[in-house]
Amino acid sequence: MQEKKFYLETYGCQMNEADSELVSGILQQTGYKLTDTPAEAHLILVNSCSVRENADKRALARLSQFKSLKRRKPDLLLGLMGCVAQRDKGKVLAELPYIDLVIGPDSYRNLTNLISQKNVPAVDVRLSRTETYSELVPSRKTKVNAWVSIMRGCDKFCSFCIVPLVRGRERSRPPASIIDEVRRAVDQGYKEVTLLGQNVNAYHHSEWRFPDLLQAVATTTGIQRVRFTSPHPSDFDLKTLTVIRDNRQICRHLHLPLQAGSSAVLKRMNRNYTQQDYLETVARIREYIPSVAISTDIIVGFPGETEADFEETLKVMELVQFDAAFMFKYSIRPGTKAAQFVDDVPDAVKGQRLKTIITLQKKHTLTRNTALIGSNQTILIEGVSRKNPEEPIGRTDSNKLVVVKNAKCAVGEIMPVQIIKATGVTLFGKIT
Ligand code: SAH
Ligand code: SF4
Ligand code: F3S
Repeated sequence: MQEKKFYLETYGCQMNEADSELVSGILQQTGYKLTDTPAEAHLILVNSCSVRENADKRALARLSQFKSLKRRKPDLLLGLMGCVAQRDKGKVLAELPYIDLVIGPDSYRNLTNLISQKNVPAVDVRLSRTETYSELVPSRKTKVNAWVSIMRGCDKFCSFCIVPLVRGRERSRPPASIIDEVRRAVDQGYKEVTLLGQNVNAYHHSEWRFPDLLQAVATTTGIQRVRFTSPHPSDFDLKTLTVIRDNRQICRHLHLPLQAGSSAVLKRMNRNYTQQDYLETVARIREYIPSVAISTDIIVGFPGETEADFEETLKVMELVQFDAAFMFKYSIRPGTKAAQFVDDVPDAVKGQRLKTIITLQKKHTLTRNTALIGSNQTILIEGVSRKNPEEPIGRTDSNKLVVVKNAKCAVGEIMPVQIIKATGVTLFGKIT
């Protein structure tokens, strides 16, 4: 029998990346081989993101590009997975009548069953209150860092956010299964793990809270570096900070989404903290972990955001001096609380505000990076520079990319470097 091949494309956050690795594991166990050429595939899957309007448009556009392949190969199965599948099943089936599979984020265990169904489209978008895929074995794309999901779903219901609607209720994976997975990753040669969840510090399973898990992963698995993303500012506790401070394996980088600087906007966003709370959290983090890098997410043009509100965002950026930021124009997500508000900030104003914060952030990133010139850092080599394949690149534990000058290093090596130059987001270093 001819060998079956699958092609899998992933959009969205790291949790989607991790889910794709699980799906890849499931398919390879059933005899499918992974291909990176869509035209060779018998099964094409697009793992989609729905967090902003342009993200979900992209998934559907991509699927319609694969339609011509289906004309040439009638037994090709074309499937949509992930958050758009969950949210827009009806629209997807109406707009893409040739689609064979629509699979929500809690239905991947049912994948092989769905693939073998005679009746297409096969659809499974049931959300679960318990599914954590705890004992499934991922087939990873990366060689240095391993994604490890520790919880799924989100109960925060920030008013702008679709995630609670597409990922369902918060649930945590048993600690033993997480620790086992990290140990297996260590055995396979991984140097770093990133613990994943939409609201990672809400982790709780029996007596275990997030800092207990973090400590156990850092101290009982042999892993050299531990990262986690994303914590929610209002769930950030002192115990977590103490565990990071006391365990050098835990990286000195925190992604702490701000979203907006104005307390009035934060309230309408249902973020559960004020500007002052956020600034106090940052101050405490820096007191416990002075060398920490802090990155963030910011939305501009949320309904009702006045010029004065926007200036509060600029003020927080100036006060904190983030190392990096992901910045977005507000995008209405039907079904969320904020979709009931009037989207009253004109798109041109959103665009202007976005431009302003991007410029400011570039300045802060450069300032923070320039401050590292002359310092000694330890980097984990993850590949070679795109501009010059002779130059290895690696990440500091504060998550900054360093291009290494005049040296040969193997992927996965942990190297001491001195920073000699900083340009925008990239640092340059020499081996010490
Ligand atoms: N769980 C994380 C982030 C989830 S989504 C957290 O708690 O912050 C990643 C980022 O996308 C968010 O932090 C937010 O900045 C942005 N985002 C989410 N919904 C959005 C929307 N409707 N419009 C614009 N940006 C949005
Ligand atoms: Fe969305 Fe808020 Fe949950 Fe993050 S914490 S996933 S922004 S609802
Ligand atoms: Fe997108 Fe779903 Fe992640 S909406 S951000 S892929 S949880």
